[in-house]
Amino acid sequence: GTMTFVEHDGTEHEVEFVDGSSLMELATSNGVPGIDGDCGGEASCGTCHVIVDDAWIAVAGTRSDVERQMIEMSPECAANSRLACQLKACPDLDGLKVRLPEFQM
Ligand code: FES
Repeated sequence: GTMTFVEHDGTEHEVEFVDGSSLMELATSNGVPGIDGDCGGEASCGTCHVIVDDAWIAVAGTRSDVERQMIEMSPECAANSRLACQLKACPDLDGLKVRLPEFQM
């Protein structure tokens, strides 16, 4: 399957879905610009901010407390903002679409 990252300017990047990988890993290994993942997936840098497409919120679930504390520091934090490193690819999320904020922290 695949999933799609949509840059702030609307450019779409469809990437091959690898079950068990985090969305941050999928983005960085596929060269999607705008996801830095500076902390390597520890939920401590906030540079992997993505905004889950409305249609996918129910399936993607909600953010954890650790995630919430980090993401709420972003001026672009939306109701469905997530840290991509905390979202693991799984068959249920095949076809997922997430948007990138204009700036990472
Ligand atoms: Fe650092 Fe996700 S990679 S918070």
